[in-house]
Amino acid sequence: MSVLELKDISGGYGEADILHGVTLTIGEGEIVVVIGPNGAGKSTAMKAVFGLLRLSGGTITLAGEDITGMDPARVVRKGVCYVPQTNNVFSTLTVQENLEMGAYIREDNFKPRIQEIYEMFPPLAEKRKQRAGELSGGQRQMVAMGKALMVEPKILLLDEPTAGLSPIYRKEIFDTVRQINATGIPILMVEQNAKQSLAVADRGYILVDGRNRTQGKGSDLLQDPEIAEMFLGG
Ligand SMILES: Nc1ncnc2c1ncn2[C@@H]1O[C@H](COP(=O)(O)OP(=O)(O)OP(=O)(O)O)[C@@H](O)[C@H]1O
Ligand SMILES: [Mg+2]
Repeated sequence: MSVLELKDISGGYGEADILHGVTLTIGEGEIVVVIGPNGAGKSTAMKAVFGLLRLSGGTITLAGEDITGMDPARVVRKGVCYVPQTNNVFSTLTVQENLEMGAYIREDNFKPRIQEIYEMFPPLAEKRKQRAGELSGGQRQMVAMGKALMVEPKILLLDEPTAGLSPIYRKEIFDTVRQINATGIPILMVEQNAKQSLAVADRGYILVDGRNRTQGKGSDLLQDPEIAEMFLGG
C-alpha cells in the first residue's frame, strides 16, 4: 500500500482546472521527486493534498484512508508534514521558537522531539537562540524542515527546498533529505534542480501543463537522452 496517493487529480483555484488528471504515488521509505517547467502545477499538486484546491475529480489517500478535500489542519494532524516553497519560517522568532510553533498541534510533551531535530540538524542546535531571519538560506531551510517535522510524520512534503541556494547549501539540503529519509520518513519533493534531485530520489515524475508527462526510476530518468535534453538542461 502506498503512503500517499494522488489519483487522477483534476482541479484548480478558480473555474479553470490547472491539474488535469495528475497521479502521484509515494511508497514506504521512498524519496519521490516531481520536476517540470514553471507553472506546470507542481506546487498546486502539493496544495491539493491539503484540501487547498477546488477539485473536479480524483482521490487522495493517506495510508489507505481517503483524505480527499480534508481541511489542512486535519491533514497535518494525520501526519503529513509540509514545507511550502516560500515564507516557510517565522523570521522574527528564534530557531527554538520556530520548532515550538511547529509543535502547536501536539498536546503531549514535545521536548524530546526538539532534541531529535537538533540531532538531525546540528547547525541549528548551535543557533537555537538566533532569529531565523538572521540565518543563511540553507539553515533557514533546515528550520523550515525541522518545524514541519515536529509532528509525528507519516510523510514529508518539500516544495523546492533548494531554491535560491548556493551549490554548497544545495548539497547540504539534499544530504539532509537523504538523512531524514533514512530515519524512515517517506519524502515527496518538488525540485528545480532536476539532476541533483533525481540523483537522490528513488523515483521521479515529470509534470507538464498539469499532466503527468513521464515517470520512472530516478536513475533511469537521468540517463534518458530525450528527458535530459528537455528537462535536465542537456
Ligand atoms: N493561488 C493561486 N491562485 C490562482 N492561480 C494560481 C495560484 N497559484 C498558482 N496558480 C496558477 O496555477 C498554475 C500552476 O502553478 P504552480 O504554482 O502549481 O506551478 P509550479 O509547477 O509549482 O511552478 P514553479 O516551478 O514556478 O513553482 C500557474 O498557471 C499559476 O499561475
Ligand atoms: Mg511551485
